[in-house]
Amino acid sequence: MYLSFIFIIITSVFWGQNNINHITNPDYLNKYSFIFPSDFLWGTATAAHQVEGNCNNNNWSNWETSIPSHDYSFLHSKQPAGSACEHWTRYPEDIKLMKELGVNAYRFSVEWSKIEPQPGEFNQNALTHYSTVIDSLISKGITPMITLHHFTNPIWFEELGAFEREENIQYFVRFSQKIFEEYSDRVIYWCTINEPAVYTVQGYFTGIFPPEKQNIRLAAKVLKNLIRAHVDVYFSLKKLPNGEKSQIGFVKNINQFKPWRKWHPVDQMVVWFSNHFYNDAILHCLMTDEYTLKVPFLSGENGIIPNASQSFDFIGLNYYSHNFLKFQLLRTPHIDVAFPKKEIKTDMPYTMYAQGFYDAIESVSKLKKPIIITENGVADKYDNFRSKWISDYIKQMAIALENGIDIRGYFYWSLLDNYEWVESYHMKFGLYEVDFKTQQRKLREGSKTYQKIIKSGIGNN
Ligand code: GCO
Repeated sequence: MYLSFIFIIITSVFWGQNNINHITNPDYLNKYSFIFPSDFLWGTATAAHQVEGNCNNNNWSNWETSIPSHDYSFLHSKQPAGSACEHWTRYPEDIKLMKELGVNAYRFSVEWSKIEPQPGEFNQNALTHYSTVIDSLISKGITPMITLHHFTNPIWFEELGAFEREENIQYFVRFSQKIFEEYSDRVIYWCTINEPAVYTVQGYFTGIFPPEKQNIRLAAKVLKNLIRAHVDVYFSLKKLPNGEKSQIGFVKNINQFKPWRKWHPVDQMVVWFSNHFYNDAILHCLMTDEYTLKVPFLSGENGIIPNASQSFDFIGLNYYSHNFLKFQLLRTPHIDVAFPKKEIKTDMPYTMYAQGFYDAIESVSKLKKPIIITENGVADKYDNFRSKWISDYIKQMAIALENGIDIRGYFYWSLLDNYEWVESYHMKFGLYEVDFKTQQRKLREGSKTYQKIIKSGIGNN
């Protein structure tokens, strides 16, 4: 590894006119040096419902104002997203912030419920809005990346049973085609469905996301339909004008589950199942076309998803941390998460674990497609270790690149503090702090590390 690293340095010095930039032992990479390609995508990410404001016609806006159907006491109380960061109107200002950071890419989602408020009726104002956002980004040298589905469904789609029913997939395909026809002349990068496993597990197993169901068999079906929907969207977009030149990807969140007590058979079992359902079964399907849940009472959904293994030009990886699971018979919830004392605890229910980022990159590299890190970032209200998070995680990504893994970009989650789903506004993921009373944005000290890395890695030949 060391030798190949020296080799890269020497060759790039001699052939210095290529597209490679140098970062030489900057403190913010912990004395580690690495060369990032000059065409590397350095970005930030957001999602419509979390930042735009006025998303009041979808499954989440319904959920936010409904009475919980079960016990949420271990979480913060339900709170409406409301006007969020007013990104819908403040996007010009937010694009300026992106410029100040130095990013060259921005991942955002389009809000289905604003674009298609009723089945088959497309709202021209909403379509024009995103078109203007795209043009503004491009005019500032920022590459747009669109996510077609980021957790929210229009109410009409939810009422039809959303992804619980295979026959509903056609509506998502129709919507995706419409969006692609509108913007694919200018947008190269597309994410189909954000984190199918999170949508499924939280909505249909733990039941803390809408539609608050706790039905593992239904979860197995929803997950399968989401993969099918991704595959159908992929092939239908590829057939459209600009399809061939577009880069369309699947976004997988990797979360490594580990037993809190290695000797405990129930901890082991729970961990095996979590890794299987959440990570392995999906990756297996993307590799082989086989959707196979290795649990007898879930095997009813097992089968082939034709061409799943050919259905992505890149794999989007969202990575935050690992989770230690612990079974407890006498307390609820029976499965609890535990935190190793030696690891820094973030404001979310997990620790900082940069090594896991390397492991996650390695696990998705088995799909043998370029990787784009579509999300990575930390909720750190007091900005105590955001800088360390950024440098430690980016260092792991650099090591993966050095080891020959094909990573094309990194999108920090998130540009702004925003609406963190069931955690509402309690989590502060933003590179920019947002004062939700005045809507003022302020660059956090810790975020300057990202700014420095980008500045030394881009346009620096
Ligand atoms: C998710 C989403 C984002 C989150 C982010 C921080 O993983 O839930 O893709 O919408 O806000 O991951 O938790």
